[in-house]
Formats: sequence, structure tokens, C-alpha cells
Amino acid sequence: MPLILDSPSGSESSFEPRKSGPQEERRRIHHTGDVVIVGAGVLGSALAKGFGDQGRSVILLEKSLKEPDRIVGELLQPGGVQALQELGMEDCVEDIDAIRVKGMSVQFYDEIIQIPYPAAKPITQSRSNSRKEDSPSKPQGRSFHHGRFVAKLRAAAMRHPNVTVFETEATSVITCDDSNQVLGVQAITRKTQQDYFFADLTIICDGYASKFRKSYTHHTPKVKSKFWGMELKDCRLPFPEHGFVSLADRPPVLLYQIATHDTRVLVDIPDNAPTASVAAGGVKNHLRSVICPTLPSEIRPSFLAALEAPGALRSMPNSFLPPTTNRTPGLALLGDALNMRHPLTGGGMTVALNDVVLLTTLLHPSQVPDLADTKLVLKQFKTFHWRRKNLTSVINILAQALYSLFAANKPELKYLQRGCFRYFQLGGACIEEPAGLLGGIIRRPIVLVYHFFAVALLSIWVLYKEGGLLWFPWSFVMGLRVFWEAVVVIGPYILAEMKS
Ligand SMILES: Cc1cc2nc3c(=O)[nH]c(=O)nc-3n(C[C@H](O)[C@H](O)[C@H](O)COP(=O)(O)OP(=O)(O)OC[C@H]3O[C@@H](n4cnc5c(N)ncnc54)[C@H](O)[C@@H]3O)c2cc1C
Ligand SMILES: *[C@@H]1O[C@H](CO)[C@@H](O)[C@H](O)[C@H]1NC(C)=O
Repeated sequence: MPLILDSPSGSESSFEPRKSGPQEERRRIHHTGDVVIVGAGVLGSALAKGFGDQGRSVILLEKSLKEPDRIVGELLQPGGVQALQELGMEDCVEDIDAIRVKGMSVQFYDEIIQIPYPAAKPITQSRSNSRKEDSPSKPQGRSFHHGRFVAKLRAAAMRHPNVTVFETEATSVITCDDSNQVLGVQAITRKTQQDYFFADLTIICDGYASKFRKSYTHHTPKVKSKFWGMELKDCRLPFPEHGFVSLADRPPVLLYQIATHDTRVLVDIPDNAPTASVAAGGVKNHLRSVICPTLPSEIRPSFLAALEAPGALRSMPNSFLPPTTNRTPGLALLGDALNMRHPLTGGGMTVALNDVVLLTTLLHPSQVPDLADTKLVLKQFKTFHWRRKNLTSVINILAQALYSLFAANKPELKYLQRGCFRYFQLGGACIEEPAGLLGGIIRRPIVLVYHFFAVALLSIWVLYKEGGLLWFPWSFVMGLRVFWEAVVVIGPYILAEMKS
């Protein structure tokens, strides 16, 4: 028998409904359900709960139910918190010592600017109309230890009467002999026992290093840099309850508080960065001598202290993977297995949770009574591919374009980077709308394209003003090059979003 954990370890058992009935037995004994979900991460756990609420019989497979200990998925944008609410899972950010996030702040050499999330009319209107006027209508994000959040999501799935969780590692997909229809997955439990799980629909959400995706998407993840992470103790950030991005003559550094005493720092280091090479003293030395001096003075002591802690330094690849339409009968990729963007803007979980909201809407039993109706399911996945873009293309393009500017490695990009900061300094819509895009609150790709080119034009204007009349011929040529660079930066990412 596979290990079945119907109860989250450590939680009060009185809280749990009894799991029994024919569906439960089909899952537990016969390993058959309506849906098999591979991976109980951010996406899989929320999706299991979402499908379960609709009365679907859900099997959720996870290779390790231990609380994850990772440097990813720690800042949830307001657009992700909103998705949690829509799924009835907002309690998953409670009791985990999560920190409220009211916006970002950006350091550009010696200057610092605050970028608060704007009040979100479309999101909070109905709520604030109906009840207390005094509640602030500014949306908030949350930051936390990733493992604590995932443990909460998993617990919500585990205590659901329509979900059965198995601790097992999926190894391959089971297909029909004479068609490519997927019937379920094969898995290995406790490293020894072969198991088989069957369902009308198999959802693969096994994360960034997905071993299943290559058969179902022609894209492969592109990695140009890594984030190196450390946990700082009692670090003071320039603006409390705001994420912090530090820009200087090196790739960006990101900081945000994840618990009362803990602050995450993520330092972007491009592959083959000379100052982080072994010959130059490695990453540790790079952090000490190249990065630390460029950070605000109040951050430096805890940064240096963290560097000394043994095993403090951990890294993750920063990947880009454009999405594709799921076309396989009986199977779909979701989450990081389907689509990734640079984590600079902390958008991954917001994409994942909103995908759960959209997909459960499109596959609701009122739309798709039977998930075995593969034709209808595939039609809904096509709709899903295009409809998710209102939000996801904004987050994907913004993350990639902003990273190009913030990691500026040539003059044209450096002018765009400066222009971007000057643009924020203009205030008003120049700060509110970009913050709304970043937070997953404004879900209109055209708004992103507008602001991006406004930044490009401002960068060129600053260049002209600085050069004056005497330098105008040079500034004019440089201006054209800056504009062209802007097109080259954003163009490919827009095109990637337009593909099916
Ligand atoms: C450095 C870094 C920082 C990031 N920071 C943020 C951030 O601040 N905010 C944000 O929103 N996003 C962030 N992200 C992105 C975010 O972590 C992901 O988008 C998100 O975790 C994706 O969720 P997922 O469910 O697809 O994958 P995961 O959360 O990775 O879950 C995958 C699950 O599948 C399980 N699994 C894998 N293989 C198998 C198998 N064969 N069988 C059974 N189970 C399996 C794994 O154990 C895991 O539990 C960051 C990413 C990186 C790289
Ligand atoms: C579980 O599924 C049944 C249908 O099989 C449904 O009636 C019930 O409401 C679901 N339970 C929950 C808690 O959503």
C-alpha cells in the first residue's frame, strides 16, 4: 500500500471531516479519480482544493511531503492574495508570521524611491461598497517562508474530503496503446514500490525542473543568471513592509522581509560573471567586495553577518519559459512546468494561483460535466491559453523586460535603466500604473507596453537634455540606438506571448 496521509501532520484531527464513501475508496484502493495532479507545490495544492470544491474526485501526488525549505516563492503579490481569496484559501497566509507588503522601493545608486501599490478599483470596489468604509482599499501582498505557506496549502488539500494525497514520485505517463490519450501516471513509492494512478485528466505541475515537460512543449527553459540567496537577521530595510530592489553598476539585488526577524536577500549573478569566478574568489567574495558596498549602509551589517553563517548561501536558476497551449488529450502542464519568467518581480505564484482560478472556472462541472469529454476539455484549454494572458503576459513581459534594464550590461540599457528610475520619480500614473502591473492588479498588457515605451522616450529626452545643443548630433544617434534597444528588449517577449 502506498503511504496515504489523509491528515496533515501536527494539525488538530477534530478539524478533519471523515473521509469515506465510494469515491474515496476508488481513490485510496483503486487509485482512480477524476483528476490526477502531479506535484503538491503552490499550484498543485491549490488546484486540488479548487477541483475538490467542485465535487471532482482528486488524487494529488507529491514526492516529498516534508515542509519545503527553498529560497523561492516568498513574496506573493496582491494579485495572488486576491486569487487565494477567490479560492477560499486566504487563511493559508495566516499564522505563518507573514509580513504585509504594501509596495516596492527602488534604490538607484544614491537615490531611493517608494513605489506603493495603487488602490485597486476593480478588485476592492464591491467589497468596500458592501462593508466598512474605513477599511483601506489599498491591496496588499504577503511575504513569508515558502515552506510554511506550501505546508498550509497542502494541509488545505489534505483535509478536503474529495482529495486524497499520496506521497509518491511520478515517473512516467501512462498512455493508451493506440492513441496518445493519457490515462494517468506511473509512480514509485518509498523508492521501491511501483504504483499506477488513473484519471480522466492528468495535470503535471512538478515545478521548474519538470521532467515531464519535454514531451509536451517544444520550448526549453532559458537560463542566463542565478539568484543567490541568504537569510538576514533583523535587517532594517529603507521602507518597512515594502520589497526593495537595489540598482547600481551591477545586476539587481532584491530584498524583502519574510518573517518578524528574517529578511531574504537575492543577488542576481549572470552566468560567467568574472567577479564571481573561482579565480576571483568565488561567489562569497563577489558578495562581500562587489555587492555589499553598493547596498544601503543599514543593510550591510546583517548582510556581512549572514555571509559568515555556514551553509547560508544557496542558489536557484532564473529561467524563462514561454507558455504553450495544452494539446494532449487527457494531460496538461501547469505552473512552472508550463511557464516561467525571471523572479525579479515575484510573479510566479501570482500566475500559478490565478491559473487555478481561471482553469477551475473553465472546467467547472457546469461547463464540462465530464472530464472524459476530451474534445471539450481541449477546447477549454485553448480558451485558457488565451484568457490567462491578460494577467500572465503582463507579469511575464514585465519581469523579463525589467530584468534586461536592471541588469543593464551596455550603454543603451543603462540609459533605459536611468530613464526608468526618472520615470518613477515623475509620480502619479508613472508610478501607480507600473506598481499595479507588478502587483498583478492591472491586467491589461497594453498598459505595460504604453509605460515601457514612455520610459524609452523619457530616457532619450534625459539624454538630449544632458548633452545640450553641442552634443546633439551624438545624443541624436544614441537616442535612436536607445529606442532600438527598447524594441529589441521587449519585442521578443511580446512575440512569445502571441504564439499559441
Ligand atoms: C530564485 C527564485 C525566487 C522566486 N521568488 C518568487 C517570489 O518571491 N514570488 C513568487 O510569486 N514567485 C517566485 N518564484 C517563482 C515561484 O517559486 C514558482 O513560480 C512557483 O513555486 C511555481 O509553483 P509550482 O507549483 O509550479 O511549482 P513548485 O512550487 O516548485 O511545486 C512543484 C512540486 O512538485 C513536486 N514534484 C516534482 N517532481 C515530482 C514528481 N515526479 N512526482 C511528485 N511530485 C513531484 C515537488 O516536490 C514540488 O512540491 C521564484 C523563483 C525563483 C527561481
Ligand atoms: C465533494 O464532492 C461531492 C460530490 O461528489 C460534493 O457534493 C461535495 O460538496 C464536495 N465536498 C466539498 C467539501 O466540496
